[in-house]
Amino acid sequence: MKAIHAITGFICIMVAGCASQPESETVKPDYLKLGDSIAAASFDNLRTALQASVAKDGPEKSIGFCHDNAMALTGKLDSDSIHVYRVAERYRNPANQLKPGDQVAWQQYVTAKSKGDSIFSTITESDSAVDYYKPILLQPMCATCHGQPITNIPESLVRVIDSVYPGDLAKGFAPGDLRGMWHIRFIKPKS
Ligand code: HEC
Repeated sequence: MKAIHAITGFICIMVAGCASQPESETVKPDYLKLGDSIAAASFDNLRTALQASVAKDGPEKSIGFCHDNAMALTGKLDSDSIHVYRVAERYRNPANQLKPGDQVAWQQYVTAKSKGDSIFSTITESDSAVDYYKPILLQPMCATCHGQPITNIPESLVRVIDSVYPGDLAKGFAPGDLRGMWHIRFIKPKS
């Protein structure tokens, strides 16, 4: 019996060894995990800088700070093969409006939310790129700048927002609303 067990064990090890990937094959990155960590780090970069600006100069001056720095902070983790965007249908900065390729993911989030379903990060893959999306929901602390004018956004702040961003569409949100999405594009290495 012992001998049989030993042989079976040996065969199992051999089979497992053969089934494992040959060393030359490249391991596919986990784009969902990678996207989640880049989105979290980008959000942290923005939040830390915004909170510091609000604490130092107050919310009105921080609007100018956002205008001058938010795009650069959003794309701080950009590289030749990774591009980070924050996009929204009702945007404040027109540079952040949905691109044609963002529509499918956006509509999926809108539909799921209208049914009361939870929404999560997703990826879509083509031959040349992987597109990662993550919904951005409004939190109570965001209402000071994206909530209802007067009720949530003080009048003086509304005036500053409208002068820095004429045609702003990003007011009137309530906590839990779909405010926008992270879009991270990974350009695949050429094989
Ligand atoms: C102090 C005011 C302020 C606060 C607080 C604030 N935002 Fe914004 N937000 C802005 C400004 C200004 C912009 C435009 C930035 C730019 O020029 O790229 C912006 C842009 C955005 C965008 C990009 C799309 C667009 O409309 O241009 C998203 C998404 C967003 N904010 C979500 C949030 C969320 C979520 C929170 C809370 C966690 C939040 N914001 C808190 C002022 C604020």
